[in-house]
Amino acid sequence: DKNVEFIPKNFPELKNDRLLRAALGKEVDKVPVWVMRQAGRYLPEFQEVRAKHDFFTVCRTPELACEVTLQPLRRYPHLDASIIFSDILVIPQALGMTVEMHPGVGPVFPSPLQDPSEIDNLKEEGAVDRLLYVGKAITLTRHKIEGKVPLIGFTGAPFTLMGYMIEGGGSKTMSKTKEWLEKYPKDVHKLLSLLTRVIIDYLIMQVESGAQLLQVFESSADHLNRDQFIEFSAPYLKDIRSGVKNKIEAKNLEQVPMTVFAKGGGPYLDIQTGLGYDTIGLDWTVDPEEARKIVGDNFTLQGNLDPQDLYKTPEEITKMTIEMVQKFGKKRYIANLGHGITPQTPLESMKAFTVAVHEAL
Ligand code: CP3
Repeated sequence: DKNVEFIPKNFPELKNDRLLRAALGKEVDKVPVWVMRQAGRYLPEFQEVRAKHDFFTVCRTPELACEVTLQPLRRYPHLDASIIFSDILVIPQALGMTVEMHPGVGPVFPSPLQDPSEIDNLKEEGAVDRLLYVGKAITLTRHKIEGKVPLIGFTGAPFTLMGYMIEGGGSKTMSKTKEWLEKYPKDVHKLLSLLTRVIIDYLIMQVESGAQLLQVFESSADHLNRDQFIEFSAPYLKDIRSGVKNKIEAKNLEQVPMTVFAKGGGPYLDIQTGLGYDTIGLDWTVDPEEARKIVGDNFTLQGNLDPQDLYKTPEEITKMTIEMVQKFGKKRYIANLGHGITPQTPLESMKAFTVAVHEAL
């Protein structure tokens, strides 16, 4: 019966719970491993799907999003998690903005926010209803994954999303966004609060649909100095964590572990320990042993091989990965890259990386 796959009930029993155990600080037999952007452009089978369908069509079609989510698991049986295929920019879309994905360029907003008065044009009401397709993809994938590994849901963090909405796409300098931070702090906080409200309800919808762990991507934290991180990022990350926890409890759902990944947030690890997350993601600029000293024993660390290291030989990747895992140790650790895998990465690199993690300790 095809319809049963769209109901978030009677999911197959989870057979590999290493990721969830590590996130919660429980003992594991092996270090769990997954890779940011593991469902994506380095895979020829993904390219085949993309040749036939526009990026956001894949996101909006549960069968296609599910297929693409499962692709890396077929090729790399050592992966201990899946992450639902979608994008952080589906939230600005749900708020009424147009976002296009231009091949070779990345995301493009034809009409970015040009002035704080435009914040009032954003359609907060019904935003999560317009994202129900993500929930449908999660539910379908939870059924099709047959309990092999847990399914991760995700969102962009408020500051990162605001940056894209103002810049109209990726930006090396974030000059417009920084101008807003200086000139219009009140409006900036209004927009970050709006995004935070939507994100909390979006994540709750993902949990109700079957997401087993949630990751919040603050991918643009590398643009923020310490005072800016304290003012424009940390409070909202904290509100998202506590908001999700409180709403899960109020709805009598099962709690899910949460990960914060602030790219460039290495200098602010002390602040990140105060945000309430179970796992803190690290980019490759952070030394594993230094990070452990700062965060202590009550957090799981995730990361952090440089994605560029996957362009080395399988032998070198194996060696570097084993060294990394040995530095982090088996306790409260999830192996990953320090940022997303890049498009030209050789297929055998992922194999070398995932196998080495399991064999390292
Ligand atoms: O991790 C996964 O495999 C799940 C899917 C996923 C995608 N984007 C698919 C994608 C996830 C978790 C994201 C998150 C995302 N999207 C982030 C945060 C993570 C990070 O890398 O910092 C950000 C900043 C975006 C916005 C975005 N989407 C950019 C900047 C780009 C272009 C650059 C790039 O790396 O490709 C995208 C496009 C995108 N998102 C692709 C995929 C597979 C490639 C687009 C294509 O197929 O044409």
